[in-house]
Amino acid sequence: MKRFVALPHKKYPIFIERGVLQQLGSLLTGIWSPRKIAVVSDHHVAPLYQERIVRQLEAAGFRTATFQVPSGESSKSWETAVQLYRSLTNNQFTRSDGVLALGGGVVGDLAGFIASTYMRGIAYIQVPTSLLAQVDSSVGGKTAINLDTAKNIVGTFHQPDAVFIDPDTLQTLPQRYICEGYAEIVKMSALEGGAFWQMTGEVHRPEDIVTQAEPLIHQSIAYKTKIVCKDEKESGLRQILNFGHTIGHAIELLSEGALAHGEAISIGMVQITQCFANYGLTKHGTLDGLVQRLQQTGLPLKSSLMSTADVYRQITNDKKNHGGRLTLVYLEAPGRPAMHSIPISQAELFLTGKKAPNSD
Ligand SMILES: NC(=O)c1ccc[n+]([C@@H]2O[C@H](COP(=O)([O-])OP(=O)(O)OC[C@H]3O[C@@H](n4cnc5c(N)ncnc54)[C@H](O)[C@@H]3O)[C@@H](O)[C@H]2O)c1
Ligand SMILES: [Zn+2]
Repeated sequence: MKRFVALPHKKYPIFIERGVLQQLGSLLTGIWSPRKIAVVSDHHVAPLYQERIVRQLEAAGFRTATFQVPSGESSKSWETAVQLYRSLTNNQFTRSDGVLALGGGVVGDLAGFIASTYMRGIAYIQVPTSLLAQVDSSVGGKTAINLDTAKNIVGTFHQPDAVFIDPDTLQTLPQRYICEGYAEIVKMSALEGGAFWQMTGEVHRPEDIVTQAEPLIHQSIAYKTKIVCKDEKESGLRQILNFGHTIGHAIELLSEGALAHGEAISIGMVQITQCFANYGLTKHGTLDGLVQRLQQTGLPLKSSLMSTADVYRQITNDKKNHGGRLTLVYLEAPGRPAMHSIPISQAELFLTGKKAPNSD
């Protein structure tokens, strides 16, 4: 099945179907004219999927060059980016060629960044293979690399020409990453409410995530595209996708790798919902519904890091803070997200329950 991201300046298809990678070459001929394609992947994903992708592309009349980067966040770096630029020039890639990102969010963000800057921008497509990339990072056009400890600090908005999501690739994805990606699905279901919220209520065990992956991905993509189409560059509405991320990012960083992104977001969603529930701004039962969904799939709900002052220091340093204020996304109820802005100086008091909203 196909969905579309329809922005004022660009419309592109998202194919979501088990086995869709078997048709990648022929589907791509309907999108790209014959050209050279840089297939960028990482050391885990390339041995699993690269060869069959290359075979498909060549059978469909494309020429290919393959590039692999080490797996993991450290590849979202200047050093790796420069190596990839060099590989593209060494292989005489021009503005009319293309990049294919084959992998998780790391490869997607990195390859998207390369595509958006090489020769002032060349075309690219996303073939996300992790659950997180399939429901979140491959759609929306955000690309980035990290600088030292600052995550995603150098980046662009560059929309792909197409996204190909094959839930069958999840068969090889380690369980921890399945659960991590699922945290973002729960996030979107809480923001959307209704049938999507009910759907996550029926996922009782980690194994259910994979068996129900296709409808879960559909719902997530439908939700994310709706938000991105209304606010491509995160000037307003798109910020609600940061639900759970203010606290989540802070503890993810402080855990120094012990907590994966999705695990930290799980904790972030629970903590922020608890905070607003204590102030009476979140409907009774909302927190329980969230906790149940996350707990059943083995995601963490709290962290001892929450009791350290470092968390609040980290929160106040977040690059998303504007004009001395912090915008917190919370739920009035499932399907009713809201935003509350507080002065950064009051973040700790507010988040520890000591400063009620509008108590000035
Ligand atoms: N651009 C955006 O809008 C956006 C949104 C959310 C997250 N992100 C970024 O995404 C990144 C995290 O993405 P991620 O969780 O996919 O991490 P990742 O790319 O590191 O993938 C996780 C691990 O799974 C492996 N892997 C991926 N697919 C596999 C498969 N099918 N079989 C076996 N192994 C596989 C990878 O090699 C890696 O070891 C972060 O850098 C984050 O900043 C970007
Ligand atoms: Zn996230």
